[in-house]
Amino acid sequence: MTKKLWGSRFTKKTNTLVDKFTSSISFDKRLAKYDALGSIAHAKMLGEKRIIPLKDSRLIVKGLQSILKDLEKGRFKFDSQAEDIHSNIQDALSKKIGKAAHKLHAARSRNDQIVLDVRMYVKDELTACIKLLSLLQKSILRFAKDNSKIIIPSYTHLQMAQCVLVSHHMLAYIESLERDKERFCDAKKRTDQMPLGSGALSGTGLPIDREHVRKQLGFDRLTENSIDSVSDRDFIIEALAGLSILGVHFSRMAEDLILWSTKEFNFIDIDFSFCTGSSIMPHKKNPDVLELIRASTGRLHGDLSSVLILMKGLPLSYNRDLQLDKPPLFDAIDTVKEILEIMAQIFKHIRLNKGVIALKLMDESLFSVDIVEYLINKGLSYREAHDTVGRMVKGCLDKGIKISSLSTAQLRRYSDRLGADVKNILNAWESVNLKRSYGSTNPKLVARQLNIWSKRLNARIQIRK
Ligand code: ARG
Repeated sequence: MTKKLWGSRFTKKTNTLVDKFTSSISFDKRLAKYDALGSIAHAKMLGEKRIIPLKDSRLIVKGLQSILKDLEKGRFKFDSQAEDIHSNIQDALSKKIGKAAHKLHAARSRNDQIVLDVRMYVKDELTACIKLLSLLQKSILRFAKDNSKIIIPSYTHLQMAQCVLVSHHMLAYIESLERDKERFCDAKKRTDQMPLGSGALSGTGLPIDREHVRKQLGFDRLTENSIDSVSDRDFIIEALAGLSILGVHFSRMAEDLILWSTKEFNFIDIDFSFCTGSSIMPHKKNPDVLELIRASTGRLHGDLSSVLILMKGLPLSYNRDLQLDKPPLFDAIDTVKEILEIMAQIFKHIRLNKGVIALKLMDESLFSVDIVEYLINKGLSYREAHDTVGRMVKGCLDKGIKISSLSTAQLRRYSDRLGADVKNILNAWESVNLKRSYGSTNPKLVARQLNIWSKRLNARIQIRK
């Protein structure tokens, strides 16, 4: 069994319940690679600075490299009885290289070691999420381009509002995902600080070189205060906050698609391979994948709350409470990566029901703002125009007729500015073509946006290769 790193001061063995309760190996084994990499950098620095003999440093590095290989090949034996990943690797190293392994922990504490491991992990995972976000954006962009000639009714208050291009709606998702990426990049900046050398909390009297370790591990800069280094978990909270906001975006996209796939809307058809059935109702084809995505938002917010509450009122500096920042962090990362992958696939497996959508566009209430703007162009004030169109809509509803069926004389009864030409704007294409403000659903502007995003996303993918 893995040896404790602190046994000698103790007059008794710890209770087995305590061992089980305090152990973190079941989840922090995920950090094994980073723990070994951090130790390699630390050992090299210890040798370089002659804090330990160079030959011991070389032996330790060799041992750790072979542990890294074992980890890569999946043949490293994790000890479920170990207290944590640090003791597990330390013990494995002792078994590989003998006594020299005991020199590795000089000028280091698990307090700075764990935060190093987690920072390395968060940096990598945020980068992975950013890449997956780009792939999701690309998949949405593909869908938008494939359907660039489709107009849908859009909604406010879940009431039919105005016509938009479906590609405009898709670009809205792409914009929100871009902000998620920016948040991740921003969180990465503050994660990119190297804490090793802070020791338990006060630093060390040994002549270490923190810069040496920083450079080896590719961190942007050093942490500046040893107490803060071992206590700070803001970077985890920031990552979780970013993941939570992304979760909100997921839930809104999922909700749109769920609504659109209902019989009542019937805007889209989701491929069978991304739906499930009912054990009792043979006719059902349910959007369970999207529902689970929507539900995962709660899980992500729970993960964020868990760490926020854990941190609140914690005295400086390190406290064992901090061990429990990891399960929610890991859970949130796993959840988001899984959703990012499946969401990108979903957009490849939905089809727009063009006929159904076209029928919905016959509802002329969708053009009421266009008529208001027509009247403003003819010199009416906004208020007069709004009132006029309000009366027209009411009159037509009361009589059960369409605005387009009104004669010129009937139109003039609402306003002398209304001419027969108003009927030319009572269709979806005219409605979107009339929009001209930057960022609007005007087809030319939307096409430009689609091009801009194509270039942006393709350029990014190329940089990555
Ligand atoms: N498992 C601990 C954590 O996750 C590692 C650090 C333990 N340090 C200590 N002094 N007990 O935070």
